[in-house]
Amino acid sequence: MEIRLDGKVALVTGASRGIGRAVAASLAASGADVVLSSRKLDALQATKAELEAELPDGAGRLMVVAANAGEEDQAAACVEAAVERFERIDVLVNNAATNPYQGPTLGIGRSQFDKTVQVNWYGPLLWSRLAVEAGLGRDGGGAIVNVASIGGLSAEPTIGVYNGTKAALLHLTRQLALELAPDVRVNAVAPGLVKTDMARALWEPAEDALAGHTPLGRLGEPNDLARAVTFLASDAASWITGTTVVVDGGMLLKA
Ligand SMILES: NC(=O)c1ccc[n+]([C@@H]2O[C@H](COP(=O)([O-])OP(=O)(O)OC[C@H]3O[C@@H](n4cnc5c(N)ncnc54)[C@H](OP(=O)(O)O)[C@@H]3O)[C@@H](O)[C@H]2O)c1
Repeated sequence: MEIRLDGKVALVTGASRGIGRAVAASLAASGADVVLSSRKLDALQATKAELEAELPDGAGRLMVVAANAGEEDQAAACVEAAVERFERIDVLVNNAATNPYQGPTLGIGRSQFDKTVQVNWYGPLLWSRLAVEAGLGRDGGGAIVNVASIGGLSAEPTIGVYNGTKAALLHLTRQLALELAPDVRVNAVAPGLVKTDMARALWEPAEDALAGHTPLGRLGEPNDLARAVTFLASDAASWITGTTVVVDGGMLLKA
């Protein structure tokens, strides 16, 4: 089954690298016009140039807008620029997240706690509201995909508050799926350990051992998530809402 998103417009937060970059590439390769957003314009422009050189014929157009996912004014300006250029938004991928603290959960500082909640939990709510106000789902067929984590489904040392925001994001997914049906489907993916910058400190020192402990024998690659997100964003998932697709090579089975 080939998934096509021709005529659709997608907005991806945290799209300059890692999972978000792969998601943006996959959506564009499927024919969607894609707005890539993250904080740093230089990185976004470099990513756009790289993707434009490698995307296949039939791919959608790309645009970039710098925005901090936790800041209302910047998010609103990004959504406004997206609609001004592409006239609609059909797909929102809430992928940007932050993790400013690692250590015992009770040791987190208030500003680190607030920043984690602001970007990882309030951010997806904010972007969802802005996208719906801008017309996402107006003529049916809208889709929101939230990038959570298997950490939102289990407990593990050192990233308790980050994982708490991911658990909250999984609930927000269910809540918005109920409230926005039938015009907008809302789903989540829960990645296991994926080889990106964000998780480098976790996987780089012990990649072989971690891969050996993973039932499917390897760590995740951004494309593993991109395929799942593209499916959930597409009409191929037209009767799926409020659910979480775990994409972890089986890691959660041993958690
Ligand atoms: N990698 C894993 O093992 C793993 C596991 C479970 C879940 N996840 C989730 O997957 C998603 C993507 O993570 P990743 O591993 O791909 O990370 P990554 O490679 O570090 O990329 C993060 C992206 O988000 C952007 N970003 C960071 N803070 C932002 C902010 N406040 N506002 C807007 N953009 C921001 C970054 O660009 P700028 O720095 O330019 O803003 C970058 O484009 C996150 O939601 C993460 O929690 C990852």
